[in-house]
Amino acid sequence: MTGAVAGLVLALGMASPSVPAVAATGYDIDSASSLQVVVNKHRPLNPASYVPSQLVRVQGELLQAQAANAYKQFSKAAKAAGVNVIPISGYRSYSQQASLYNSYVNQYGQATADTIAARPGYSEHQTGLAIDIGNASGTCALEACFATTPAGMWAAQHGREYGFIIRYPDGADAITGYTYEPWHLRYVGPALAGKITGSMTLEGYFGLEAAPGYL
Ligand code: DAL
Ligand code: ZN
Repeated sequence: MTGAVAGLVLALGMASPSVPAVAATGYDIDSASSLQVVVNKHRPLNPASYVPSQLVRVQGELLQAQAANAYKQFSKAAKAAGVNVIPISGYRSYSQQASLYNSYVNQYGQATADTIAARPGYSEHQTGLAIDIGNASGTCALEACFATTPAGMWAAQHGREYGFIIRYPDGADAITGYTYEPWHLRYVGPALAGKITGSMTLEGYFGLEAAPGYL
């Protein structure tokens, strides 16, 4: 290996497992506490029992501090535009995710459960950076038709300005492993969110392999 190549390998964090891998974009997508961490069926949280150090309560739900602040700005702006957004589910601990996942397995069987809920240790909700939102009216809560409601349209049109992307876009099942979730917003910060447009995924942006199923 030439010096230049070795330097590049080191810079990309591929040479040592003790150095967090930093994608060529400059974002840390590996550390559980990174605002740009990529969690999917091939990329569990490390450690699986991860708990964010700063969790803040927002309208009854917990979120990581920066995500909470961004959510407050997002919902305030929505309200000023006449759209009443409510948080449905923010931070979920490993054990809360396990209960949710198991309830779906019991209800629908494992194959279907795996398309709608992450297994414990594999959920963005455990990072404190994901929030499921709804309309205060309850219309289309956690259903695909949420996309056509005021809160769903507000999120799709303005979420990025506050740092939130729709993490599981329509038609991206083969990449994310999850069906369309227009209500699941993931905080990544406004700079990165502005680059994730249309039906783009974090996997696509960072050039990661598709993760439709568990390894
Ligand atoms: N519904 C998303 C995939 C989760 O459970 O994290
Ligand atoms: Zn969610």
